[in-house]
Amino acid sequence: MRKILFVASEGVPFIKTGGLADVVGSLPKYIDKKYYDIRVFIPKYNCMRQEWKDKLNYVGHFYMDFNWQNVYVGIMECIEEGVHYYFLDNEYYFNGDKVYNDDPKFEIERYSYFCKAVLSALPVIGFRPDLIHCHDWQTGLIPVYLKERFGGNEFYRGIKTVITIHNLKFQGKWDVQTVKNITGLPDYFFTPDKLEAYKDANLLKGGIVFADAITTVSDTYAEEIKTPFYGEGLDGLLRARTGDLRGIVNGIDYSEFNPETDKHIVQKYNAVNFRKEKAKNKKALQEELGLTVDDKKMMIGIVSRLTDQKGFDLIAYIMDELCQDDVQIVVLGTGEERYENMFRHFDWKYNNKVSANIYYSDALSHKIYASSDAFLMPSLFEPCGLSQLMALKYGAVPIVRETGGLKDTVEPYNEYEGKGTGFSFTNYNAHEMLHAIRYAEGVYYDKKREWNKIVDRAMAVDFSWKVSALKYQEMYDWLIG
Ligand code: GLC
Repeated sequence: MRKILFVASEGVPFIKTGGLADVVGSLPKYIDKKYYDIRVFIPKYNCMRQEWKDKLNYVGHFYMDFNWQNVYVGIMECIEEGVHYYFLDNEYYFNGDKVYNDDPKFEIERYSYFCKAVLSALPVIGFRPDLIHCHDWQTGLIPVYLKERFGGNEFYRGIKTVITIHNLKFQGKWDVQTVKNITGLPDYFFTPDKLEAYKDANLLKGGIVFADAITTVSDTYAEEIKTPFYGEGLDGLLRARTGDLRGIVNGIDYSEFNPETDKHIVQKYNAVNFRKEKAKNKKALQEELGLTVDDKKMMIGIVSRLTDQKGFDLIAYIMDELCQDDVQIVVLGTGEERYENMFRHFDWKYNNKVSANIYYSDALSHKIYASSDAFLMPSLFEPCGLSQLMALKYGAVPIVRETGGLKDTVEPYNEYEGKGTGFSFTNYNAHEMLHAIRYAEGVYYDKKREWNKIVDRAMAVDFSWKVSALKYQEMYDWLIG
């Protein structure tokens, strides 16, 4: 039995702010339990829903030297859908009413503590992993600490590490002196071949330098991040480690995202009967959101964190033009105020055409996938993207920019060969995007049979975890030897 430990800052169903949580919550379920004992470590956040906090059982606690103090480390656990989860408990660090904090220095301190505490907790829970699979900058110090202070200890010797980059934009950077102080790492770690990058200490960089292998969440993103445009300053390092870097595309959990069994939607449907049944969801949603009720109108859905990564500058730029067309636009998400207000403004201006829902709702997101004819995702960059996978499954035809995982998962419509599952454009340009949207409108309104065939193909593609989980297993085997 090979022992694998996932370490991450969030995971479904316990706590989620983005796609990272979906991956951490679903991939372990699909790792073959006959050969792998896979467990997951995340922080115990006070802002977790009470129903989840109530499920956790106390395992043990100890005190650890950290940041010049002796700090409490509590361990809780629970088993959820066959996966063994551990939770790291410390009220000072994880007490906030939000998962992430606005103070970058405190973030570094919290997650440095988390990394050291997780490693220190392993003997206490009696689990010595063969491999630790780290996710994003919050866990970047694990490979570093493992080399440094834990390396000399028999228990930790030979533990392999992988770091998966879900988003290179976030790196955990702060000035060297402070990070040295917080982490207790010696001077020689803070050089440009290790944790230092552009005069700052950089925790993700530490993870990339010291991990045995690096993965990211699509093939295209794995290539893109080796270039300056997408490399966020680390493209040189990623080029240097190209032999140890690979892309493995994310899957989604079809037990949760399936129009045939979805509890959130008014009318269940499948790949056979969507032509008749799907539009019933659209009508219900139009009514619920106060849009013109007409199941013939093309509805374009957007479900997203409202950040500039997702291409909202393009949308803002052409929104007035787009609203002259015969379309409805339904938005769900929260994020940067300028985008929240932009959508509120257009909701006010085009009241029966645009619906801006500036909050977070699982139920509404499912309704949008089930109701929309098309799903817009014009990201500036997109490591993988999960919403387009959900949209495909629900027969909401994705309109995407050809970047990262969007490029790898949406096949552009080709009217001559009768191929494709969506529409796409290449450059980060608002009118190129509008052109793609209008091309889709044309097919939707004037070639309905063609449109429905696109939906057929979209609903048929398989992005379950099956294939990708096998790739992770192969990599684990290869590293563990
Ligand atoms: C991040 C990326 C997204 C990816 C997700 C899970 O949220 O922005 O593209 O799908 O991580 O890997």
